[in-house]
Amino acid sequence: MIEFYFATGNEHKVAEANAVLSPHKIKVKKLEGIEKLEIQHTNLEEIAKTALTLIVPNTDKLVLVEDSGLFVHELNGFPGPYSSYVFETLGVDGILKLLNDSKSRKAEFRSSVSFGTKGKIFATFSSVSEGTLTTQAKGDNGFGFDPIFVPMWASKTFGQMDLNEKIVYSHRSKALKKLALWYLNAAKTNTLEENAIVVSQAPQNK
Ligand code: IMP
Repeated sequence: MIEFYFATGNEHKVAEANAVLSPHKIKVKKLEGIEKLEIQHTNLEEIAKTALTLIVPNTDKLVLVEDSGLFVHELNGFPGPYSSYVFETLGVDGILKLLNDSKSRKAEFRSSVSFGTKGKIFATFSSVSEGTLTTQAKGDNGFGFDPIFVPMWASKTFGQMDLNEKIVYSHRSKALKKLALWYLNAAKTNTLEENAIVVSQAPQNK
């Protein structure tokens, strides 16, 4: 079993990564003892990459960082990269209120996953899950905006799905699958470092 270390405080994200990656014989553990720093930027890839840049100089573990957000079409993409702050301040009800009079309830979740080790960023992958927002919260599963988001081709919210259903549709799962397929091929063909961005020298004896 290969081990990836996920720099996140969110256990739901770790569980989702394990559900997606375990069929590929990759086990995901939470990276302990390192704080993930999140810069302000409109681009999730840049946020994920920058967070990883601050972690990889100090580890020889295979680390992944993920940044995600809910982009509501009628609100010109808000809350987007500010989703966790908006979730903490306005919450699910706040977003529903903002959409009270709007015609469109279209929204999408986006996810960017950045991956590397030993002072290098190997690759970054992004994915989207399109869907619609409900008029009221439904379901207790998951986290964040799960109870108000119905992905395209589904008839219930992420909050009403168990993890194995959510990973069929989720933005994060799609990005993680891209990572797994790339990693397994790159490891086999010895091309992991082919497009690596060097952010620092590899740590000595760590
Ligand atoms: P971050 O990726 O840790 O910055 O968090 C992004 C925020 O977007 C979370 O706090 C949630 O509010 C929201 N979010 C991202 N992905 C999901 C998801 O899969 N379900 C529900 N909410 C999500």
